[in-house]
Amino acid sequence: MEKVIDESKQGQSLVLKHKKENTRKLFIESYGCAMNFSDSEIVASILTNEGFNTTQKLEEADLILVNTCSIRDKAEQTVRKRLEKYNAVKRDHNPKMKVGVLGCMAERLKTKFLEEEKIVDLVVGPDAYKDLPNLLAEVDEGRDAINVILSKEETYGDVSPVRLNTNGVTAFVSITRGCDNMCTFCVVPFTRGRERSRDPQSIIEEINDLWSKGYKEITLLGQNVDSYLWYGGGLKKDFVKASDIQKATAVNFANLLELCAKTQPKMRIRFSTSNPQDLTLDVVETMAKYHNICNHIHLPVQSGSDRILKAMNRLHTREEYIELINNIREIIPDCAISQDMIVGFPTETEDDFRDTVSLMKYVKYHFGYMFTYSERPGTMAGRNMEDDIPEATKKRRLAEIVALQQEHSGIRTKEHLNTVVEVLIEKESKKSDTHWSGRTSQNIVCVFPKENYNIGNLVNVKTTNCTTATLIGEAVGLSKNN
Ligand code: SAH
Ligand code: F3S
Repeated sequence: MEKVIDESKQGQSLVLKHKKENTRKLFIESYGCAMNFSDSEIVASILTNEGFNTTQKLEEADLILVNTCSIRDKAEQTVRKRLEKYNAVKRDHNPKMKVGVLGCMAERLKTKFLEEEKIVDLVVGPDAYKDLPNLLAEVDEGRDAINVILSKEETYGDVSPVRLNTNGVTAFVSITRGCDNMCTFCVVPFTRGRERSRDPQSIIEEINDLWSKGYKEITLLGQNVDSYLWYGGGLKKDFVKASDIQKATAVNFANLLELCAKTQPKMRIRFSTSNPQDLTLDVVETMAKYHNICNHIHLPVQSGSDRILKAMNRLHTREEYIELINNIREIIPDCAISQDMIVGFPTETEDDFRDTVSLMKYVKYHFGYMFTYSERPGTMAGRNMEDDIPEATKKRRLAEIVALQQEHSGIRTKEHLNTVVEVLIEKESKKSDTHWSGRTSQNIVCVFPKENYNIGNLVNVKTTNCTTATLIGEAVGLSKNN
């Protein structure tokens, strides 16, 4: 299943096609959200032009880059452990090896990284990847190098990302960077800066290029995709100052979605992540209008309690969220909806938690990602609220909603039993080399016997069985949408 944070991919190192003339070896691995994995493709693209080929063997790397995540303390601890590992490899195998930290931890800790972690030679924030060639030149001369400047313009729209460890069928296309929402628990606005949107022209060019290379599905990526707004460049918050002509020709997310769907009518289109306060019904109507836009919305709510939503600075109420869910279901009855949820936010009472449980029971999400609150230094909640919910209470609440979500996923998956679903084949099933694995429009994994079908085919599958999150069936023919 496409996850915001795909545990199975965490720490994956990336391989690229080798260029003969390149002599240095780069080991690059990524942690955290899909945006980090997408950014690593941009970094790799920049470094192939700097004489690097990728390797998956730490021991032989001249340069190790780790793209890091700060969203929860645990994510940062994972990266610290990796740095210990690199240290050991450097000591035992390759004293000349250089180590660089990219992404959100680099941005959050800045020079502290160079002081705290002696192994680190290079610190680069998410908006500074184009400066990598200069920074590496510094490192080559034996100096530490750092660039953590956040940008108001950088979208990397002009860097054509190389696709790393790809299945050749699905790809991420980033459309916005940064976030202006300032949810009080969240470090992202501090590590990724202000929100800016990418030129639609460059998005369309990337999609056309992917189609010509055989890709069949793209996921438009952003911290808050529904907030996408292009009016010739610049920050979202400066739109009020735009000229009349800029305002009249501005492209919002619904417009962009339609543009993508029309440009490549056979390319499947997904998007992630939606914020309830910014998801407008014209987006849902656009989804309904185009068959190639998948019927799934990742719509994190974080809590079902109005009091907690307010303390989180989520700019909608429980009732407004429920109304949005009802509207989505009215416009697209078979639309899958998934969630992110936080338990144990400061001051969360048992009653607040019950509100979260009852909201989940109302919506019955197809799937979701649930977390215990992790205080992040510098955020509004980190500065102004005591992290007062005992760890044991957080864990108990988490276990309860994880079990509830399992139950709901089971119910949702079963709804598709004994129907015909359209599946895009992505890869061989992990459990059987005689079966394909792909996903339905609703993002449910479906496995079925291979027969004569191939990776990249859209196949109609009659479902005959299921587990909690996987449909099992048999192909009944190629879809007319190939
Ligand atoms: N809008 C972003 C959110 C990124 S963070 C997106 O593209 O999905 C992903 C999820 O991590 C959030 O939805 C939230 O549920 C969780 N999260 C963020 N900060 C957290 C914190 N301090 N503690 C626990 N979970 C957190
Ligand atoms: Fe974080 Fe809220 Fe933005 S969760 S990424 S501040 S929408």
